Amino acid sequence: MAVIQDQYGRTFRTLRVSLLNHCNLGCVYCVAGEDIVKAANAGGKKDLLSVPALLEIIGRLHGQLELGTIRLTGGEPLLYPGLTALIRGIHDLGIPAIKLTTNGFLLERLAIPMKEAGMASVNVSLDAVDEDVFYKMSRRHSAERVIRGIDAALEAGLDVKINSVIMRGINDGQILPLLDFAFSRRCSIRYLEVMAMGHLHDQAEKYLFSQKDILSVIAARHSFSSLGRAGAATASYWRTDEGHQFGVIANETEPFCRDCDRLRLDSSGHIYGCLSSNHPIQLDNMEDETKWVEKLQQALLQKQALRFTGSDLSMLYIGG
Ligand code: 5AD
Repeated sequence: MAVIQDQYGRTFRTLRVSLLNHCNLGCVYCVAGEDIVKAANAGGKKDLLSVPALLEIIGRLHGQLELGTIRLTGGEPLLYPGLTALIRGIHDLGIPAIKLTTNGFLLERLAIPMKEAGMASVNVSLDAVDEDVFYKMSRRHSAERVIRGIDAALEAGLDVKINSVIMRGINDGQILPLLDFAFSRRCSIRYLEVMAMGHLHDQAEKYLFSQKDILSVIAARHSFSSLGRAGAATASYWRTDEGHQFGVIANETEPFCRDCDRLRLDSSGHIYGCLSSNHPIQLDNMEDETKWVEKLQQALLQKQALRFTGSDLSMLYIGG
């Protein structure tokens, strides 16, 4: 196995796979108003990579990188037709942790089959518990449906984390209701600072509700102490005096590039070494191992030294 490492000692241990680039929600940070229909029907729906094609790529990457974690994303990964077969196949490749990020809309139905196929944990995006605010954020109903999905996942024995992107003036009033909801289910919640991606590339700043802002909202209700950030993790965590935990993913104000270990594969079989890069690298030569090493080294060079610099690519295509 070739050594794939950059000058900061970073390598790839986590692979995030975008299974498709369409979604059944139209969240405001992901798609612009006029693009909602496009998001739902995005190109690529017909030519998704098949389960065997994905397993071939993932297996080769695992052979080069000894992956510790794989995370399935989208678009919305629960819309991928061969999902449970894919999870089973990844499990058989021997990758230790299989995780997924979802909007939760189809989770009530899929929680048990995913768990049985070898899924360990799910991150569920929930940006509001209030139905009106949920609609403003996602342009779909309903929060109740996502909550049923979360309950089904907990019931199935999956480890569940809630992800809430906080946007100034839209859902910043939901921080405490979301916290109460997460505490009531004893699941971990992470608040995300909005990132300058896709149509927000040049205007994320006006929506930014920073880690500092988030902590001061929570401080009005709870006392808490810092638990810090684990190596290569995206979130810093705090524990309230009542013993509940919450996290913040402060991509803008407390960037965490220096120990990033993530590699991204999109739904057309391109790799990206960094969310800041909109330069897909095609993995075209399936036979030649040295070519793959070169391409992985090229992807590693895409990583930013210090901070995320923004991208025209929406998470609809690269899955966070
Ligand atoms: N900024 C912050 N978070 C985002 N997500 C998608 N787009 C953005 C953005 N521009 C979130 C999703 C999901 C996670 C993968 O990233 O809501 O929870």
